[in-house]
Amino acid sequence: MPPAVLDLARPARRVCVLTGAGMSAESGIPTFRDAQVGLWERFDPLELATLSAWASDPGQVWAWYAWRAGLVAGARPHAGHRALARWQRRPGVDLTVATQNVDDLHERAGSDVLAHLHGSLFVLRCSACDRASDASYPVMPEPVARLDPPTCTSCGGPVRPGVVWFGEALPEDDFLSAVDAAQAADLVLVVGTSGIVHPAATLPHLAGARGVPVVEVNPRESAVSEAADEVWRATAATALPALVEALDDEREASR
Ligand code: OAD
Repeated sequence: MPPAVLDLARPARRVCVLTGAGMSAESGIPTFRDAQVGLWERFDPLELATLSAWASDPGQVWAWYAWRAGLVAGARPHAGHRALARWQRRPGVDLTVATQNVDDLHERAGSDVLAHLHGSLFVLRCSACDRASDASYPVMPEPVARLDPPTCTSCGGPVRPGVVWFGEALPEDDFLSAVDAAQAADLVLVVGTSGIVHPAATLPHLAGARGVPVVEVNPRESAVSEAADEVWRATAATALPALVEALDDEREASR
């Protein structure tokens, strides 16, 4: 672990953790810009996660999200998710999680999530009248290419995933809460994002502009790297447990 990372984390009392798809990678959830797997490898997620894809073929988009929901339901949070939840529970530490991910792995590891910047896979709503829907994804042993989405019980419109598609606005409350948390933090930890989708990607820069130290955890270079004060070329499931364990050990030693 880069000593400078521990030096920044040790005194931090207001920690804002921004996560991207790399945070879920070691739970077996493919990231956006790595190759898609299986049936979907010939589709570009950046084309499926769009209003136009939904308008032209809701059955294909619904099948893709049903497949992803099945992946997430079959996945488990890893040691990095659990380490963040443990850190969040430490007395005297106010740790907020703002994620671009639409999965629920942070929550299933025990973290409170301040902001789902790109919505949530498991929050369904009517694409016509916007009413919340209590429909659910079908259990799919095998991915299928097309699946009729459920229909809204109120207006009969097709039900869609409550995720942000390209060209759609982010949930304003989530985004503004994340901006406040990043700017008020005394440490921002950016884990597993390529940092190229705005406005979520502006958060580390907004923090840095306020003089908040920014640490990146990512095995590869990203658009966040240049804004980071410290870059930790490691994966989420190895770096986060190591960091929280080191903080716990120091706390024990100082008792
Ligand atoms: P990307 O797929 O763009 O980037 C994933 C990042 O995670 C890359 O920088 C990888 O190097 C890094 N990574 C891979 N494995 C990792 C690991 N084990 N530990 C840590 N980092 C790892 O995903 P995002 O940056 O999250 O938006 O993409 C941002 C947005 O683009 C998504 O929220 C989605 C997508 O379109 C919408 O759907 C609106």
